[in-house]
Amino acid sequence: MLHIDGVIGGYGSIQILNGASLKVGRDQIAALLGGNGTGKSTLLKTISGLNKPWAGTITFDGDRIDGLRPDLIVRRGLVQVTQGKESYPGMTVEENLRLGAFVVTDRAKARRALDRVFTYFPILKDKRNQLSGTLSGGQLQMLCIGRGLMSEPKMIMLDEPSAALAPQIVLDIFRIIHKISRDGMTVLMVEQNVRMALLLAEYGYVIKDGVIHIEGPADRLIHDDNVRLSYLGGTVADRDASMNLRQ
Ligand SMILES: Nc1ncnc2c1ncn2[C@@H]1O[C@H](COP(=O)(O)OP(=O)(O)OP(=O)(O)O)[C@@H](O)[C@H]1O
Ligand SMILES: [Mg+2]
Repeated sequence: MLHIDGVIGGYGSIQILNGASLKVGRDQIAALLGGNGTGKSTLLKTISGLNKPWAGTITFDGDRIDGLRPDLIVRRGLVQVTQGKESYPGMTVEENLRLGAFVVTDRAKARRALDRVFTYFPILKDKRNQLSGTLSGGQLQMLCIGRGLMSEPKMIMLDEPSAALAPQIVLDIFRIIHKISRDGMTVLMVEQNVRMALLLAEYGYVIKDGVIHIEGPADRLIHDDNVRLSYLGGTVADRDASMNLRQ
């Protein structure tokens, strides 16, 4: 579905991505992990067209998309939910969501997309007429994911969807991501919550200094000594914490 090969890029003259390569298969959930400032967000932004790659290729659904404008990439069915839970606080929840449907010209289709978002996030339906500035952190994250879903993409990239949320809310968010995936969406998620991400994803990539330095099936990575030592802080005894994540 998404195939990135040798991507180099950065900001101005500062090179951040040093030949990053990864693949995400159709209907798969892949996790992109790594420490602070290693280039995770830069890679997502480069895929979604917000940053231009300097070199390398990005293929989505069989076509090259590197260098395309971000709105054209959204039109092709690839959407990014950026880090930081940004919304327009002076606009209502519904207005914020509808912004995500900017590529949808058919009103009935936008309506359907909105109804679908409300089935994933009933709380957003309850609060549809409230200003988004009144939402809690978890609700804002739901709004941002929902806005990404409004264009009915084939694939969604989520940048730290669980950041700065209470544990119970994190679980809610992860469950919804699982549900969205099960309904036929391809997902690439950046996460600092490495254990949870590897419990949910099928495949994981660890980025360091702008290149992928470890990759593999999630159930192998979670037992990988390097990953455990650097990112999981010890044992996997609480693997049982897979809890009811996949319910
Ligand atoms: N707009 C920018 N201009 C210049 N440098 C930037 C810009 N955005 C990020 N950087 C730098 O690029 C590097 C990678 O940043 P990036 O945001 O991709 O990291 P990250 O892996 O997403 O980190 P985090 O976990 O903190 O979100 C960092 O050194 C950062 O300071
Ligand atoms: Mg980031």
